[in-house]
Amino acid sequence: MRFGIDFGTTRTVVAGCLDSRHPVASFDEDGEYKEHVPGIAAVVGGQVIVGWDAARAVADGSAEQAIRSIKRVISTLAPDQPVPGLPNVTALELATLFLRELRRVLVERSNLELDPNELFEVMVAVPASAPSRQRWLTLEAFRRSGFQPIGLLNEPTAAAIELAHLHLSDLSAGKRRSPKKYVVVYDLGGGTFDASAVSLEGQRFELIATEGLATLGGDDFDALILELAGIVPTPQALERAREAKESLRAGTKKLLLESDDDSITIDVAELYTRAQPLVDQTIAQVEQLFSRLVERGIDPDDPRELGGVYLVGGGVAFPAVQRSLRARFGKKLQLAPQPFAATAVGLAIAADPAAQISVRETITRHFGVWREADDGVDKVFDSLIGKNSDAPTVIRRYRPTHAVGHLRFLECGALDDAGQPVQDLVPCTDVYFPYDPALGACDETELAQVPNVRRSKLADEIAETYTYAPDGTISVHIENVSRGYGRTFHIGALR
Ligand SMILES: Nc1ncnc2c1ncn2[C@@H]1O[C@H](COP(=O)(O)OP(=O)(O)OP(=O)(O)O)[C@@H](O)[C@H]1O
Ligand SMILES: [Mg+2]
Repeated sequence: MRFGIDFGTTRTVVAGCLDSRHPVASFDEDGEYKEHVPGIAAVVGGQVIVGWDAARAVADGSAEQAIRSIKRVISTLAPDQPVPGLPNVTALELATLFLRELRRVLVERSNLELDPNELFEVMVAVPASAPSRQRWLTLEAFRRSGFQPIGLLNEPTAAAIELAHLHLSDLSAGKRRSPKKYVVVYDLGGGTFDASAVSLEGQRFELIATEGLATLGGDDFDALILELAGIVPTPQALERAREAKESLRAGTKKLLLESDDDSITIDVAELYTRAQPLVDQTIAQVEQLFSRLVERGIDPDDPRELGGVYLVGGGVAFPAVQRSLRARFGKKLQLAPQPFAATAVGLAIAADPAAQISVRETITRHFGVWREADDGVDKVFDSLIGKNSDAPTVIRRYRPTHAVGHLRFLECGALDDAGQPVQDLVPCTDVYFPYDPALGACDETELAQVPNVRRSKLADEIAETYTYAPDGTISVHIENVSRGYGRTFHIGALR
């Protein structure tokens, strides 16, 4: 069977492909049906447990240690880095543990009747801003957990596919082909915010521009609630804050936060005032996206060109968010019928051969390399692959001045006017390459030890070829062209 899986920060949601329908899986948790698996890990009796079992351990206080928002934590780590707060588990291992548990509950406790021996083919997604290492880690964790990934999309593209499917009658074949339309997807999840412009034309989807903040989401509102209440943000307290937050309605004035021996009342107006700068940050990103549209000759104020701003992600239910968005975007807003499931359903549609979806995505962040300047006193960032561009292959050729190439790559969300990185900086594992053929037998650890003194230029020519794969991962092939040897490095993958 094929699935769309939205591996979310707070909630992981699964939609299946069943006779051209895309039902959201629900899981029987002690007789209650839940449409997600929570992204929580806990340690009980020295063992790491995840998902619903971990959520219960956090709620009843039996967890010795715990982390919420697994995806948010691992998105800040390289695959082999240990997860802070959990014993002996790396980022990749934790994601794998979680997805294995997801596969188990899908088979044993979900309403989709599944044969454990069949192939679980999945379309998966990451936030548009996700760096190469998070993309690689996500795909690898799915592979290690008994799923077969058939593709990786950016989350907002999946949400746009779901939106288009809702209006299938407008798009359906047989009638006149619908004209090209643009939609902006505003996705406020638990840990990430993405604003993306997607064009829709028939069954063709193109992610044309994206802005976002890798570390802003509903989790931040939970933390604010505790700050206002003067409570230390333990995982248990944060979970209670989340539950209280999710009970907020447009007219709520007071929020009651229960703890074991106390209950604290929070003034909701004050909470909204404190949350406003965060909401404003998301709106600023949408404004920036609008200016990208204008650069492409699209008028965001013309409803024939920009069909609407589609709100997805559980965070859009926070009343302060909807209020501010309505004040700014008015009638353009369109709220997803199931904001928490839009991405998973869109992924299932993309996975469904019957839907015949075709997708093209722009490059979602800047990628470049640090270069030494002023004889090593300073460093300067050279952009190699630009955000919102479409150059899947970039080649650099040069004659080196050192025996070993030591490349320090970086991905980031934005550059300042001088072309230097300023937002969501993610360094990549350093790459070492033997420019000098005499070092051709050395592995990377050995190359890192070589005293790398500057020499007069070597005669050999080096070529670096950067490739941006459809799943958004980046690889570089470095070659000593003159001597005919080379090595390939997948940025962010385990080595
Ligand atoms: N009714 C509600 N009111 C306020 N916030 C809500 C409500 N329902 C869900 N949320 C919040 O939405 C967030 C989860 O949204 P969602 O499930 O879309 O995120 P995710 O996909 O897990 O995260 P991400 O997309 O960042 O990986 C959580 O912070 C959750 O508390
Ligand atoms: Mg999400």
